[in-house]
Order: sequence, then structure tokens, then C-alpha cells
Amino acid sequence: MIARTAPDRPPLSCASDAPLTGATLEHAPEPRDGMRWTSGTLNAHWYVAALSRQVTGQRPFASTVMEEPLVLFRGTDGRATALRDRCLHRNAQLSEGDVFDGCIGCPYHGWTYDATGACITVPSEGPDATPAIARRVERFPTVEQDGLVWVWLGDPDDASSAPEPFRLPGVGQDGWRSYMMLTEFDGDVTDLVENFMDVPHTAFVHAGWFRKAGMAKRAEATVERTKGAVHVEYFQPDDSIGFSRRLLNPDGAPMTHTDRFFMPNVTRVDYMWGSRRGFVITSQITPVTRDRALVYTCIAFRFGAFNPVARLLLPAYTRIVINQDVRIMANQTANLRRHGGRRFHGTEADVIHRAIESLRDHALAGEPAPPPEPFSTRIAFWM
Ligand code: FES
Ligand SMILES: [Fe+2]
Repeated sequence: MIARTAPDRPPLSCASDAPLTGATLEHAPEPRDGMRWTSGTLNAHWYVAALSRQVTGQRPFASTVMEEPLVLFRGTDGRATALRDRCLHRNAQLSEGDVFDGCIGCPYHGWTYDATGACITVPSEGPDATPAIARRVERFPTVEQDGLVWVWLGDPDDASSAPEPFRLPGVGQDGWRSYMMLTEFDGDVTDLVENFMDVPHTAFVHAGWFRKAGMAKRAEATVERTKGAVHVEYFQPDDSIGFSRRLLNPDGAPMTHTDRFFMPNVTRVDYMWGSRRGFVITSQITPVTRDRALVYTCIAFRFGAFNPVARLLLPAYTRIVINQDVRIMANQTANLRRHGGRRFHGTEADVIHRAIESLRDHALAGEPAPPPEPFSTRIAFWM
């Protein structure tokens, strides 16, 4: 005789034998096993979820941060709102629905949520009914600045006392021009930060575009790690990069170069010639999954009379250079996925990588102990 087994289907989350009513058919608690919940304190920061112009009062905008699906739109007051992109009813994606009157309607059965996430209409309960019970889809704190919409995935009570999101250098400042580039990358945030702060790769990945391979120049730098940042200052005044001499540094002023990392996901690279010319590349890395990211790169530059021509030429140039990084990061990530885990070997140039990793690993572990001790050191390497 074949024994009957329990059905695979999990039981309804409602209470036992009570008659099934709307009130007893509420959702079970959401599982807390996604990246947002398993990344230590890394969720307690502002992350870019969208460009301001992508978020409107006419249509929903879908975004994913730390594996959390979000839908963004504007309420009647024009403020950006970010809700969990998952209808409470049968879990359809709200981002496939409609935005109207500062609310979003689910495309499946029409449940409607206002900008606070409160469900205000359930069509199956009748046109005049107030919803039988209070239902609310999760809403995430947002901040809008510098043309970006940022979300907070940590404890919402902590958002109001958290430092404001990183301010983009050069944006809106006298003499500066800027533009934003969005790029999807394979790679986790730590590996991407390291790539954006890594000098030795430029002679290979960007050979001929950024630096030339085989020039064998010695570089010295100071590396400083603080509680939440890594600051690298290079001493290579005769260094030159791609286009600098020909177009943008006609005076031949010595170049200064600093690279900075700010926890948990921002890099800032400054190249300046004298005090009046130069450019700053700021990368905000939004983790989509554990090894996929959307990078918001802000290129701000100050080239005096060359500003208009730089605005015309730089986007194509920077797109080529960034795409070269996309390919090398896909290369590295494929191997990390295939073989699992990091087994890196280091050189003196990799002191920078290890300083970045130490801060991110500490946060990833939930900050169980005091942060890594600050240090400052001088390194030398060839590139
Ligand atoms: S799944 Fe959204 S209303 Fe039914
Ligand atoms: Fe690069």
C-alpha cells in the first residue's frame, strides 16, 4: 500500500480551522534571507535607485537595490516615493501597473496603493468599501539630491539621523560641467570599487586609451585608511593620461591625482592640472545582486574655454573606457562565480585593495568589533 504523503504545498498562513475570511488570509511574514538582510550593516546607507528624471507622476519606474525590487513614482506633492515592487495580494509587480493621482494600481486585480504604501482600494471588495483591513506595502525612505533619487533599506527609524547621501563634486559649481553615465557591471561592490581605484590595470585594460602599456613608470603614493574611507594620493607629476596633453593641458601644468573611497560604495578620482583645470570621476555603485551592480558615474570637468568641446567629446571617450572595465569585470566575476571565493595574491600596489576590503568586510560582518585601525603608509609600484 502506498502511504499518502503530505502535500508539497505549504499550508495557508492563516489561523487553523477558522472560516476563511479576508482577515484570516493575510500574508505570512516576509522571509529575511535576501541580500538586504544578510549584508551586515551595509544596508544602513543611502543607495542610488534612479535618476530624478526617471521618476515621474505618470508611470512607474522599476529598480532593484540589494535584491530588493522597488517601484518608484511621484506622489501628488511631487516627492519621489519608493515602494516594494510586490503587490500584497498575489505578488504581481506593481511596476507593470499604472500611476494616477499620486497612487499606483496593480495590473493584476487593481489593488491601489497611495504614495505612503497604504492600500486604499480593493476592487473586489466593492466600489464604496473601505478596505476590510489595513494593508500596507513596504515603503522605503528616499532623498533626492544632485539629480538622483536615493533609497534607504536599513531600519527606517535610522534614516532621518543618517548622514546625507554623498554630494557629487563639481555638479552645479561655477566653471564646472558634468554629465552622468549609467552602466551595468558584473562584480560585487568591493571588486568594482577596487577596479575604479586601481591604477596598474589602466596600462593594460585601457592600453592606448588612458595609459600606454610598457612605459614602465614608477609611481609612489600614500595610502590612508580612516574609519570609513580610503584616501590615495599619487606622486607622479610627470604622468599623463590619454587626451590630457593634446587638448586639455596645453600649459603643461603638473598633474595631481587622488583616488578616494567612501564607505560603502562611492569612489572619487580627481585629476587636476594646476588649480584651474581637471576632472573628477565619481562612481556610485548600487548593488543589484551580490555580483551585479548598476554604476552611476558622474564626470565633472573644468577645462576653461574647452568646456563646450569637452562636453561634446568626453562622453564617447568615457563610454569606451568604461566599457573596457565592464569587460574585465565580467571576466573576473565569471571566474569568481566558477571557482567561488577569493584567493587573491597581493603586491605593494594591492595595499589599496586590502584597505578597501577591510572596511567593507567589517561592515558585511555586521561590525562585530571596532573598525579596522586607521593607518597611513607609503607605497611604490611600477605601471
Ligand atoms: S496581484 Fe495585485 S491586485 Fe492582485
Ligand atoms: Fe579602468
